Amino acid sequence: MNVAVLASGTGTNLQALLDQVHGSDGVRIVAVASDNPSAVALARAEDASVATASFPASEYPGRADRDRAIGDWLLSHGTELVVLAGYLQLLSKDFLARFAGKVINVHPALLPAFPGLHAVEQALAYGVKVFGVTVHFVDEGVDTGPVILQRAVAIPEARSEQDVMEHLRPLEHQLLPEAVRLIAAGAVRVDPDNPRRVLIER
Ligand code: GRF
Repeated sequence: MNVAVLASGTGTNLQALLDQVHGSDGVRIVAVASDNPSAVALARAEDASVATASFPASEYPGRADRDRAIGDWLLSHGTELVVLAGYLQLLSKDFLARFAGKVINVHPALLPAFPGLHAVEQALAYGVKVFGVTVHFVDEGVDTGPVILQRAVAIPEARSEQDVMEHLRPLEHQLLPEAVRLIAAGAVRVDPDNPRRVLIER
């Protein structure tokens, strides 16, 4: 399965994919794109000899045009699955229709709690004792698509975002490659009786 990754930042999740699934388990990372030309994620991809491109908002009249260009580029690399790994832009309806059921995201909270930006800060402000990570299909909402994998961790003494991320990073770096592996193996399907439920056949 040819996988593309969209990332805006440091790309540690991209690195986990490059290290754990790229070139094995029937998975190949074929393209990495960013809205941010100086994203560290792009350098990580280059180091792994993966094709890169950046699509800064300032170069397009609007999101629809930019997402069309991103989609064209991804398809020109044979992309079959799009992984959002810290991609800080919303994707247009047309982009999602073009890659229907083939876009996934990793989020640092137990959805549906704390969607959107600053999820860990939201969770800390709420005072929760259990944090977690969700990998989900992307739909038109903000972090509202069906959940593929989810893992929780109790951090009763959490004080700062950094404390929490120290616990969540390893979970993200485990869960996202696992989800990609399962999808590539054809082990992930949506329950025909309830499209919110994702069934995993291990
Ligand atoms: C991760 O915490 C992920 O859950 C969120 O954005 C962050 C990306 O981190 N969507 P990195 O760029 O992969 O290091």
